[in-house]
Amino acid sequence: ALPALSSRLAAQAGISPAGTPAAGAPRLPPGFLIGASTSAYQIEGAVKEGGRQPSIWDTFSHTPGRIADGTNGDVACDHYNRYAGDVDLMAQMGLQAYRFSIAWPRVMPQGTGPVNPAGLDFYDRLVDKLLSRGILPMACLYHWDLPQALQDRGGWHNRDIANWFADYAHATVARLGDRVKPWAMLNEPSVHAIFGHGFGNHAPGLTGWESYVSAQHHQNLAQGTGIAALRALRSDLKLGTVFSLQPIFPASKAPEDVAAAGRFDACWNTINLDPLFHGRYPAGFEPVFAPLVRPGDMATIQQKIDFLGVNYYGPSYIQHDANAFLAQAGYGAVPPGTALTALGWPISPQGLVQVMTRLRDEYGNPTTFITENGACYDDPAPAGGVVADPQRTAYIRAHLDACAESIAQGCGLNGYFVWSLLDNFEWAEGERRRFGVTHVDFATQARTPKTSLLALAQLIQARAGGT
Ligand code: NOJ
Repeated sequence: ALPALSSRLAAQAGISPAGTPAAGAPRLPPGFLIGASTSAYQIEGAVKEGGRQPSIWDTFSHTPGRIADGTNGDVACDHYNRYAGDVDLMAQMGLQAYRFSIAWPRVMPQGTGPVNPAGLDFYDRLVDKLLSRGILPMACLYHWDLPQALQDRGGWHNRDIANWFADYAHATVARLGDRVKPWAMLNEPSVHAIFGHGFGNHAPGLTGWESYVSAQHHQNLAQGTGIAALRALRSDLKLGTVFSLQPIFPASKAPEDVAAAGRFDACWNTINLDPLFHGRYPAGFEPVFAPLVRPGDMATIQQKIDFLGVNYYGPSYIQHDANAFLAQAGYGAVPPGTALTALGWPISPQGLVQVMTRLRDEYGNPTTFITENGACYDDPAPAGGVVADPQRTAYIRAHLDACAESIAQGCGLNGYFVWSLLDNFEWAEGERRRFGVTHVDFATQARTPKTSLLALAQLIQARAGGT
């Protein structure tokens, strides 16, 4: 049974009180999965437990001035110790699937070499718990927490990482692949390249064009070697990867803004999509990557995948900036009147439809999941066992409607994972920026459902035909 929701809160959240049918639910086909998403460094904490060694995010978050509120992931949501309760909460809410990531520095603390069984034991327990509650696990092998030991050997700038990653993927899936079938290789490689290796505001804090290009190519390559290694390991896996995709618009009609938006679209979107689906870098970018691309690389990258994970938050508006690294593109002003989240990100459910129809028309309409979608808001404190987050509730609902519209337009979309199950460590923003559908009190580790989670629970229940 769902926690009782007062009619006042329900009205605030734009949903009906528990027990009454949801009005105008999005028309999602039966079998469309609804779940939640997290990542290891953002929720696990326990950074020194079970033989884990530091990742680049431990180093980065402990460097003064790097994280806006001075927090780090040492404890985060303490999910490493509280996973059972977190899974119970998901089950209570009827979530059908859960996307999480595996911490490479738990499984192979030095990045290569011996496997740490205690690190894999944690994911073993988590997976068994999920399955015992009827929740489908989807695991992502790399969500930005590179073992520091590998960074010390060049990290994503060292071409050997394609083999290091394949070995780590193989060791992990050899242990968990009997129970976990969908495996995503990388999370948002273009974002990791742009922010972590270009702008330098994410770990490992590297900057500049050449650094960015190298990190991007070697991620593409590792994604390919990882898929190939896992295909050879078991035949019953569903293999994919996760890209951040968004429509990119010029901030004005000025020719330099239009050109900057074109470059930004390439570096955010097609730098991942074109190699994977077409075996080539986007037009104009071949010369940029040529010094790194060796014979056979593009064939290694162009793997057949079983699904593409799409992380969608909103569009970007780009204006020319002569001082920014990204081929002189930087963030631009959004059109007046555009609704924004608390991070200033523009809201556009229609942008999700645009991303999906682009995949349909230009990339062969792959089988997809929205592996992340969500919004940051400054939530009120818990009151009466719930946190009222009507704006996030509306955001999620509007994007589920956009999923339904994408499917109506023939897109191969199969499910939706909200970002995020829990308020967590939001990278350079720290803990003060909340994306959860569950409120976390970081002092006590108390979890409180938000009305957005109750609305999701209600929608899932209504679709299942229950009340
Ligand atoms: C995408 C990233 O994958 C995730 O780690 C992050 O917290 C969300 N975007 C929100 O910024």
